[in-house]
Amino acid sequence: MSFKEKFKEGIITAKDFSREDIDYILQKGKEMIHNNKKADVLKGKILATLFFEPSTRTRLSFESAMYRLGGNVIGFHTGDVSSTKKGESIADTIRTVENYSDGIVIRHNLEGAARLAAKFAKIPIINAGSGSGEHPTQALLDLLTIIQEGHKLDGLNIGIMGDLKYGRTVHSLSILLSNYEANIYFISPKDLMLRKRDKDYLQQRQVKYKEIEKYRDILNILDILYVTRIQKERFADIEEYDRVKDFYVFTKKDMAETNDNFKIMHPLPRIKEISAEIDDSPKSIYFKQAYYGIPMRKAILAELLSN
Ligand code: CP
Repeated sequence: MSFKEKFKEGIITAKDFSREDIDYILQKGKEMIHNNKKADVLKGKILATLFFEPSTRTRLSFESAMYRLGGNVIGFHTGDVSSTKKGESIADTIRTVENYSDGIVIRHNLEGAARLAAKFAKIPIINAGSGSGEHPTQALLDLLTIIQEGHKLDGLNIGIMGDLKYGRTVHSLSILLSNYEANIYFISPKDLMLRKRDKDYLQQRQVKYKEIEKYRDILNILDILYVTRIQKERFADIEEYDRVKDFYVFTKKDMAETNDNFKIMHPLPRIKEISAEIDDSPKSIYFKQAYYGIPMRKAILAELLSN
């Protein structure tokens, strides 16, 4: 079955990806790198971007990717200006917007929103972040970044640090990595460790992982440190957030402990978990990572929406 056929309902969860699917779409992403000429592969197509939660990178890179492929974009960037504000359901929103577009990118605070949208849509749905659940296209661009930086996914030593409970990018990234022989170190305060269901999934897939609270001891063995923001907006109790918000700040001193091939990544936005004093280091690749959103999302849109 081709990628296009397999993902005809869209990209909802990283769990739908086999290793072959990931390798295929990463190769397509690679081919889009440095190919900034405007193409016409999606000429006449319209992408709807329905963002019920804030976004800078995901929405703008999807929109930029669509324009660069010759297509057009409609949509909204806050639920406040859509009729959901008047009480319209996600189902009715999707059944309406599919009449106006060829594919829908949706970000919503509900974990099941993209899955629900796909149930009602006859066009591909792309999950651009579903509550604390998943963010699969971010994880694909994260993998593209890692391999473009010269690392192999098999044998990769990766630390994933921060809010592992509520961080949707972390969930999708670890699911995709479960297709490879990576060694994963999950680093977080106890209250923000991976949820049981996420650990159960990784254990079923026999992923080699460890959970630790301190990152300094393992810095010299890491190829990648993937840092995430504490997801303030997901905490029901602000006191719980206050207890963990300053848990870690990666500094220049930490960078000095890393090996020559080490790279530090972050899906962004960053608050203060990575000190700005290391932004100019060649080992800091979080803005390059944001760039890879364009080729990766061009590849995804071209696969899903082209004739
Ligand atoms: N990485 C990411 O999802 O960023 P935005 O929230 O800005 O889209």
